[in-house]
Amino acid sequence: MARSPVVSPIRLSRRVAELAPSSTAAAGKAAKALAASGVDVVDFGIGEPDFPTPDFVGAAGVAAIRAGLTKYTDVAGDPALRDLIAEKYRREQGADCWRENVVVTAGAKQAVFNACQVLFDPGDEVAVFSPYWVSFPEMIRLAGARPVFVKTRLEDGWKPTADLLEAQGGAGIRGVILNSPNNPTGAVVSRKALEAILDWCASRDAVLIFDETYDRFLYDGRTHVSAAAFWSKHADRIVVTGAASKTYAMTGWRLGWTLAPKGVIAAMSSYQSHSTSNASSISQEAGSVALREIARSNESVADMLAQYVRRRDVMLSGLAAIPGLSISGPEGAFYAFPRVRALYGRKGVSGSAEFCRRLLEEAKIATVPGDAFGDDDCIRLSFATSVERITEGMRRFSDWAR
Ligand SMILES: Cc1ncc(COP(=O)(O)O)c(C=O)c1O
Repeated sequence: MARSPVVSPIRLSRRVAELAPSSTAAAGKAAKALAASGVDVVDFGIGEPDFPTPDFVGAAGVAAIRAGLTKYTDVAGDPALRDLIAEKYRREQGADCWRENVVVTAGAKQAVFNACQVLFDPGDEVAVFSPYWVSFPEMIRLAGARPVFVKTRLEDGWKPTADLLEAQGGAGIRGVILNSPNNPTGAVVSRKALEAILDWCASRDAVLIFDETYDRFLYDGRTHVSAAAFWSKHADRIVVTGAASKTYAMTGWRLGWTLAPKGVIAAMSSYQSHSTSNASSISQEAGSVALREIARSNESVADMLAQYVRRRDVMLSGLAAIPGLSISGPEGAFYAFPRVRALYGRKGVSGSAEFCRRLLEEAKIATVPGDAFGDDDCIRLSFATSVERITEGMRRFSDWAR
């Protein structure tokens, strides 16, 4: 049957009318289309681990199905899992937090989204350190609030600081979103800077949403410092979001969480009770097993980290050989975010989107334009792929750049 044309399109809400579609998804689509036509594309666009979910975690999911754990759980998550998450923050960050401080979500994305929904009102200003993860500004806008971008600089290692907030933040800031390790820059906030940012939030009566989705992937002996480490001083303004997604290569399982003051958790649970209800019962069972392993041995994550270290080294030495590129880090996560602006003139392109399009068409390398993250001078390359593919991609990039 022929498709009938839409005569009178359904009117969409004002809320979504100005919603920017995810440009990371658009870049991914173009790369997939090219690969589907038989072209050998080196994919540096991916935002997820290429590793399979560890067997013992997958087996726990299968066992959950077999055991019939396929019903609704508490909206805020299985109490045993909430206990495990609270226990993780007590053990790792010394935070005096408990089950009532935890809600389990369908990934870190839902955790940040719901936090914005319960914390911000129309007219509120929310500071976002830039470069930022693509969804933060839209999540703020979908809560009716206004993102205020606080620029970090490559020359300063892309470091977020309280001074930058003070200089660029404006008087009406109600919240700050900080992501460490950062997607896309890989920057890791220092303990001192994080404390100063929290002190700044306290002085403005603002709340800090601290996204630590990549908290297990830090390089060169760095250790992760979470906002939860300042729980005793600032518990009333800390909202930490995390996930099993990257840590355990569980992106498709949709399992994340939020650690926050009880009132925020209660509001997020109510909000969730009218939207998605609990995160998948099966994923919660598998996630519990993963979190128990992290407490015991951390073996499978350490294996993945060792591979990311090698991949990062190969990508960084490949990028260093391309004249005109500058880069800082990455100190964590699994992305490189070089400044490629010096090549724009030579290649006759006007910005990162065109640069990435040409890189895909001519060198068959998929990357993500920096403008998606608030910096049109840079591009993002993921090294969540094999050393062989990284080596091949760097060879192609280098040939193309010359
Ligand atoms: C900084 C950041 N936060 C949150 C997410 C979303 O994670 P999840 O898949 O757990 O929803 C991502 C995914 O790429 C991310 O990079």
